[in-house]
Amino acid sequence: MTDSPDPVVDPDDGDAGGAVATEPHNPIAGVFDGVEHTSGVAKPDPILKAKGVTRRFGGLVAVDVDELEIQRGAITALIGPNGAGKTTFFNLLTGFDSPDSGHVELNGQSIDGVASHKLAARGMVRTFQLTKALSRLTVLQNMMLGAKDQGGENLLRALVSPLWRQREQEVEAQARALLDRFNLTHMTDQFAGTLSGGQRKLVEMARSLMTEPELVMLDEPMAGVNPALTQSLLGHVKQLRAEGRTVIFVEHDMDVVQDISDWVVVMAEGRIIAEGPPGSIAENQQVVDAYLGSSHGTELDFDSVQDLEAADDGDAGEADGQTDQEATDG
Ligand SMILES: Nc1ncnc2c1ncn2[C@@H]1O[C@H](COP(=O)(O)OP(=O)(O)OP(=O)(O)O)[C@@H](O)[C@H]1O
Ligand SMILES: [Mg+2]
Repeated sequence: MTDSPDPVVDPDDGDAGGAVATEPHNPIAGVFDGVEHTSGVAKPDPILKAKGVTRRFGGLVAVDVDELEIQRGAITALIGPNGAGKTTFFNLLTGFDSPDSGHVELNGQSIDGVASHKLAARGMVRTFQLTKALSRLTVLQNMMLGAKDQGGENLLRALVSPLWRQREQEVEAQARALLDRFNLTHMTDQFAGTLSGGQRKLVEMARSLMTEPELVMLDEPMAGVNPALTQSLLGHVKQLRAEGRTVIFVEHDMDVVQDISDWVVVMAEGRIIAEGPPGSIAENQQVVDAYLGSSHGTELDFDSVQDLEAADDGDAGEADGQTDQEATDG
């Protein structure tokens, strides 16, 4: 494996990522029936609520979200043109950045000012647009780093001290089980730095599950991932929902959004401009305008999944230019 975009044809990768064979059950099918297609609309059973959340960078208002509720157990897609504020909003929701104003509730309790590692203990984890795997640690060590009770500063202690052996063994067993589930067992002892961008995305998703989260937030989990791996990643996301977890994910590919999301939230220039089931979004004039008006040339493309699936020239999945960045990251 090279530290490069996933090759589209890779004999070692035939089952990479552990494709989920049958379509996972959707336990919340129908839950959005009767929910209006309006931004800020209340959900039947929200796990996360944001109110009046703003973040400025100098003169730029990067995030200005009046109201957003995320339905428990659903897969919600957060979409919008480049620079819309999606990652910044994720950072604010997950304690990696602080809003200038506003409030966020998780399970009905305020999480304002709560640090990210404490949020993990409260059931909320996120992955990063640019993967954060530590190149000089093995895949297994990266996984173990994701465990509960083990902040980064404790990793070495956790790995060397006999006092930690019991806990370490439990964590290791859990990590190995997750690697098995994601068909990454053969990579257990490889250094993360040797994995392709797509494989690291998969490891990052597996690692996020080490804390048994209720709410999983994925920032562009499919970016730079080859089509075969994308299909298995999508299967894993649906599997999370089948297990009763809530997923919020940022994605640019509308076919992926159509395929896996129960609900779509559209951001543009920091605001939520539309919400609704995936089918309602393409027809929303405000959404079309936001994409057309974006200076970054993101397209609202609902017809590319066939292209993606048919792609055989080795550069699929790079539509947003993430891959090179990602390959050199870490
Ligand atoms: N740390 C920062 N300092 C200054 N400006 C920032 C910072 N982080 C983000 N921005 C700006 O805030 C805006 C929103 O950026 P953000 O990364 O949240 O967008 P995004 O929707 O995730 O875009 P993409 O789809 O390209 O990932 C952009 O104009 C960006 O340049
Ligand atoms: Mg982003």
